[in-house]
Amino acid sequence: MEKYVINGGKKLQGEVEISGAKNAAVAIIPAALLVDGVCCIENMPQISDTDMLLTILKDLGAKVRLINKSTVEIDCTDVHNGDAPYDLMRKIRASYYLIGAMLGRFGAAKTTMPGGCNFGVRPIDQHIKGMTALGAEVEVKNGFVYAETRDGKLHGTRIYLDKVSVGATMNIIIAAALAQGRTIIENAAREPHIVDLANFLNSMGADIRGAGTDTVKINGVEKLHGGTYAIIPDQIEAGTYMVAAAATGGEVLVKNVIPRHLECISAKLRETGTIVQEYGDSVYIKGASNLRRTNVKTLPYPGFPTDMQPPMCVLLALAEGTSVMTEGVYDDRFKYVNELRKMGAEVTVDGRVAVIEGGKPLTGAPVHACDLRAGAAMVTAGLCASGTTVVEDIHFIERGYENFVGKLRALGADISLVNFPEEPDNADKVIAIG
Ligand code: EPU
Repeated sequence: MEKYVINGGKKLQGEVEISGAKNAAVAIIPAALLVDGVCCIENMPQISDTDMLLTILKDLGAKVRLINKSTVEIDCTDVHNGDAPYDLMRKIRASYYLIGAMLGRFGAAKTTMPGGCNFGVRPIDQHIKGMTALGAEVEVKNGFVYAETRDGKLHGTRIYLDKVSVGATMNIIIAAALAQGRTIIENAAREPHIVDLANFLNSMGADIRGAGTDTVKINGVEKLHGGTYAIIPDQIEAGTYMVAAAATGGEVLVKNVIPRHLECISAKLRETGTIVQEYGDSVYIKGASNLRRTNVKTLPYPGFPTDMQPPMCVLLALAEGTSVMTEGVYDDRFKYVNELRKMGAEVTVDGRVAVIEGGKPLTGAPVHACDLRAGAAMVTAGLCASGTTVVEDIHFIERGYENFVGKLRALGADISLVNFPEEPDNADKVIAIG
């Protein structure tokens, strides 16, 4: 069983290069199904979520070729609307984009209900509302989503989202790219990866305007052609290193970023006394010797990202005084707090609000990654704690962080990926593998 073993107490120092954005990549890969020709996608993050989606495309008949570490060529010319590998679909949230992509390409789709991190109920009613408005008949039965158009085509329409949803906005954009006529999405989400998806599709011949605002207009086109596209840097990966640098009192240059996408994180870090300096495509972080308390509320972009909530809680646990973290997106995203408490953090949770009595020293402990970003938070806590922290269930973390151990080690962290024998009795006989 693979775990991360962290000997904490080292300040992060040096430079780290950010990979392509996971939440853009996981929409762009399914969207490639719409492209008539070869699309070459650069800055593709090497993480298990993108691996799984590429495997799903291959199963549908796509030719997928890795050109180098971060460039993938996808040719969906010969894809068929067969049974996709449902066991993989079930594991990832982003498999919901296959509904829009398969409907756009084949006029019909069968997928599983999506998996992903468990933050309480995560319905897809707004996705279904969008597909239905575009003319599909959608039925959810026995854990599967069946969607079908009457005449093989989707038809443009006006869709008002009842909830600002990243996934529904992107799914409707994908579905509408080849629909007949114009689609208008109102109350759309505005995250940078939504703009990236629209830019990808536009570079292949789509006509999408307004992405990044709350009204997105999609004029359906006949077909999309091949081309080359580079995915934007990952806002959350960058934010995770920024927070880890600040929490350890380190000094790190976070490279290959779009500083504008990080402003919501930079602003809150500055309130804690952290020095944040923005350059063209990098951000310099210098941790404060005495972190200051602050309050944070997560919101859709351009608000403070919910995906940064767990790592930020770790930082606030180290800051002297009482901080309040309010979760504005999900009902149940504080499950990891129990793990943080094992390390000495004083946090109480009431519904969507966590009260953090900061300034208590963290001590190493065996902890679980409850989900992707909670896992990143456990690693951050381990880096700041005295003694050894062992993080289990790291497969969650590897869904979204490329070469996490390698990048942290390059910054001076004492972290290793260790393969523990299955029997707990032999847990002291560890085999280090990187
Ligand atoms: N919601 C509905 N109905 C829907 C869709 C969403 O009620 O049909 C609710 C959700 O339950 C939630 C809120 O609306 O309370 C926002 O959900 P959203 O649809 O925006 O989230 P998502 O598409 O499921 C994506 C990311 C998440 C990230 C959120 C918010 C992907 C694959 N996932 O999820 O990323 O937290 O947007 O920014 O893009 C992560 O990377 O760790 C991660 C969880």
